[in-house]
Amino acid sequence: MGAPVNVREFEDLARERLDPVHYDYFASGAQDEVTVRANEAAFARLALVPRVLRGAGPPRLGVALLGGEASMPVLLAPTAFHRLAHPDGERATARAAAKAGVIMIAAMLSTVAIEEVAAEARKAAPDPVLWFQLYPQPDTAFMEAVVRRAESAGCRALVVTADSPALGRNERGDRNGFHDLPPGVRCENLREPGDPARTGHVRQVVLTPELSWDDLDRLRGITDLPIIVKGVLHPDDARLAVERGADAVIVSNHGGRQLDTAPASITRLPLVADAVAGRVPVLLDGGVRRGTDVVKALALGADAVAIGRPALWGLAAAGEDGVADVLGLLRRELDNALTLCGCATPGEAGRGLVQEGPC
Ligand code: FNR
Repeated sequence: MGAPVNVREFEDLARERLDPVHYDYFASGAQDEVTVRANEAAFARLALVPRVLRGAGPPRLGVALLGGEASMPVLLAPTAFHRLAHPDGERATARAAAKAGVIMIAAMLSTVAIEEVAAEARKAAPDPVLWFQLYPQPDTAFMEAVVRRAESAGCRALVVTADSPALGRNERGDRNGFHDLPPGVRCENLREPGDPARTGHVRQVVLTPELSWDDLDRLRGITDLPIIVKGVLHPDDARLAVERGADAVIVSNHGGRQLDTAPASITRLPLVADAVAGRVPVLLDGGVRRGTDVVKALALGADAVAIGRPALWGLAAAGEDGVADVLGLLRRELDNALTLCGCATPGEAGRGLVQEGPC
């Protein structure tokens, strides 16, 4: 096969290169994977209605989010275990994102420590923007230690994953017996505090149904970083998030990996955007595979989108270069789609661009 020309072909290449068990870990979702498929299918059901003769000129793709500059409204969603995709793991992802001027949301379940992820990003570009994703932990002293590490590493926001009061039921993982990371691959952000020699115990992440809005308040009490709530699908939750002081929300069903048969993210975006009513930025992830998908999300009220699996396919296919290629592809597709829609900037994509129902 020649060089991949789109994200789907990157997935084909990644499937060839990856251990099939690890491919399944990245590709799979919960149970029947209805939501995994729905995320992409829902984008295909929306049509774009271009405007013509607007003299828009070449689009300018840059956006500002929570005070940070991004070269385009496409971020890297937090995904776990990058060293299963490539030996350089999150180091490679961070370099590619930083060089592309793309905001990377570093995962708590990273297989490279946040300090090293940040150092790699800074080697690659002068002013990279990293956000840190957090599963709030019931051991508040440990959680505070993790937050301090993210702050000291220079992360500029905390992304609190709210859709995981328990782990989704992953049947491909069960069938494959995939329960442990290979020897030497660890969740480096879960080491016991005070273990710089990296000899000690690595904790298991705790997902708990006790998690509530009060935990968000507690987090607000220990950090001045902006707090973003990830995993909002209901407009009432979006309202609550804003009332509780969230600085942004991410419309997401965790890429279909948590509650199977949760609705496709893009179908919930207009409801959430209306509830938020411009008070804070609204982001979306789930099923974004094309520049046209990005335009649809912008039109329906997102300030930006994030990609999960596409970056993993690039990483598995060719490490840093693969992630860079995926970001480059999406940038060119977005540029082309905005141009064809007659938009000069991402902010110009309005609801009138999208027709509900098939093309
Ligand atoms: C994820 N996602 C995720 N989210 C999160 O908040 N913390 C995490 O540790 C992970 N880990 C993770 C691993 C893998 C392999 C995948 C595919 C996804 C969810 C992720 O942030 C995002 O919501 C989805 O990936 C978006 O959907 P797409 O772009 O993969 O369709």
